[in-house]
Amino acid sequence: MTTPIPRDKDLDSTLKLLLNGYPLLQEKFRHYDSDIFRTRFLGQKAVCIHGQEAAEIFYNPELFERKNAIPKRIQKTLMGENGIQTMDGPEHRRRKELFMSLMTQENINNLMSIMADEWQTSIYKWEEMDEVVLYKEVQDLICRAACAWADVPLKESKVRRRAADFGYMVDAFGAVGPRHWRGKRARSRGEKWIGKVIKDIRKGKLEVREGTAAHAMAWHRDINGELLDIHMATVELMNVLRPIVAIARYVTFAAIALHQYPVHRQILKEDEDNYAELFVQEVRRFYPFTPVLGAHVRTDFEWQNYHFKKGTMVLLDVYGTLHDERLWERPNAFSPERFRDWDGSPFDFIPQGGGDYMTGHRCAGEWITIEAMKVAVNYLTKAMEYRVPNQDLDMSLSRMPTIPVSRFIISQVRATA
Ligand code: HEM
Repeated sequence: MTTPIPRDKDLDSTLKLLLNGYPLLQEKFRHYDSDIFRTRFLGQKAVCIHGQEAAEIFYNPELFERKNAIPKRIQKTLMGENGIQTMDGPEHRRRKELFMSLMTQENINNLMSIMADEWQTSIYKWEEMDEVVLYKEVQDLICRAACAWADVPLKESKVRRRAADFGYMVDAFGAVGPRHWRGKRARSRGEKWIGKVIKDIRKGKLEVREGTAAHAMAWHRDINGELLDIHMATVELMNVLRPIVAIARYVTFAAIALHQYPVHRQILKEDEDNYAELFVQEVRRFYPFTPVLGAHVRTDFEWQNYHFKKGTMVLLDVYGTLHDERLWERPNAFSPERFRDWDGSPFDFIPQGGGDYMTGHRCAGEWITIEAMKVAVNYLTKAMEYRVPNQDLDMSLSRMPTIPVSRFIISQVRATA
């Protein structure tokens, strides 16, 4: 006999999730004193799961699949339709190899060196400005670097538009109404731009270097030996550029951490024991980004005496798992030190998904994210001085994805290196 899964009384959790945001699921798990409960989500029956052991089953590709698991409204804004995130089995594996082939140490080092140059140039520019809205400026500088690295031409006059559009696509994922529509418009502008890049490469009108993301996506062949259609190649090239630009959000969180917990600034300046790595890991754990991830049960199975029926939608509570006191001592304290003894488990620290990069859906750009954040922290602590004027730094947990109201303003920037 299996145990019945606790049933949530809310008719449909969708609206509550939109209203209450990141902490909602964790509150419910606490309420039911359980790592599992069932509810309805977007009109469908859904099972919510939480914690390290839950992540372990969620990332078993034998048990879960992604086909039809991502709502169309999220595909039409955030990630594009029918891309890698929605694939399973050998097709997914082949596509994932394409993304991971870009993540060589040499490629990552190249991107970091372009980013470092962009930081230096930006700091000189910021010296001349009364106020710098850090989130927007970092979005711009990362967008320039990402396009240069990927070999996607980007005119300086278009940087703000393109960078903002990538930001709006991400900003739309937990939104209804104007923020969602803004994300849709941004995606359609972006797909037009990148679609033309793919077409021009294929027609020989645009030459790109082998080994770059633009080249790889334009010439990739699927498991049947076919080139991706223009739309698919466009979506996948944007699946490289957009999330690189999204690192600006984590950089903004890092700047907030430096402001709110200034003790870490000094340690980072002294650069002891690879402290920057501990610091950026804690930023990715502490500050909310991805709230939940969804998949469908691939085949009937049992876990902890609960029955999972084929086809059921399952939501993994990412934010709650990153703030679970069984995994993280004093989870609501900002403490980079905790990562000194972290055992590197692929299932407890899941800000960008968990499990295996190749066989599962774990984020292809996690190494880039960590390195780009380290570059940013290095510049913020060692290469510049600045003031943080009074502003509204409130970050609502009911806004998904969240961001400080002011987007983090700095002033009186001085280069120190
Ligand atoms: C997948 C988060 C940066 C490329 C994911 C997933 C999350 C995530 C939560 C889904 C995992 C799952 O479905 O189980 C983030 C965050 C980032 C970031 C918060 C930093 C702001 C990047 C970067 C790249 C990237 C820099 C590329 C250069 C991808 C791709 C996938 C993915 C291609 C799909 C993987 C698959 O379905 O197999 N990311 N990501 N991401 N990410 Fe990231």
